[in-house]
Amino acid sequence: MKALVFLLLLAVVTAKRYERCELARAMKANGMDGYQGISLANWVCLAKHESDYNTGAINHNSDGSTDYGIFQINNRWWCSNGKFPSSNGCKISCSQLLTDNISQAAQCAKTIVRQQGITAWVAWRTYCKDRDLSSYTAGCGV
Ligand SMILES: *[C@@H]1O[C@H](CO)[C@@H](O)[C@H](O)[C@H]1NC(C)=O
Repeated sequence: MKALVFLLLLAVVTAKRYERCELARAMKANGMDGYQGISLANWVCLAKHESDYNTGAINHNSDGSTDYGIFQINNRWWCSNGKFPSSNGCKISCSQLLTDNISQAAQCAKTIVRQQGITAWVAWRTYCKDRDLSSYTAGCGV
């Protein structure tokens, strides 16, 4: 319990809500622009509707699993919190997906896209697919 409280505290302390262009630049710096043919605007749109650009976002699902961070990555398949049974496809602790440095989350998102494509994200299908996404990177100089 103490460890859990500490981890939650850590997440709160180091989490961050990005500005749109700041996130677009960070994603680009992490090699996401054009990765598997997915444009930066698609990634920014995905993050907007999954987490509202908040690296500390945590949401619980009805199946008992939990989604973590800016890309709302699931702990049944991709990360482990040490308790919930996980295949841990990204070989990562879920808390590493909550920090202000999006590097680990970006690597994990790339793993997911390689295996399942961007359609793995419900929010992308709902809010980004077949839309004009130019506003997500407009004025960002990316
Ligand atoms: C973010 O983390 C990665 C490694 O996980 C590191 O290489 C990089 O320098 C960090 N970026 C910043 C801005 O601290």
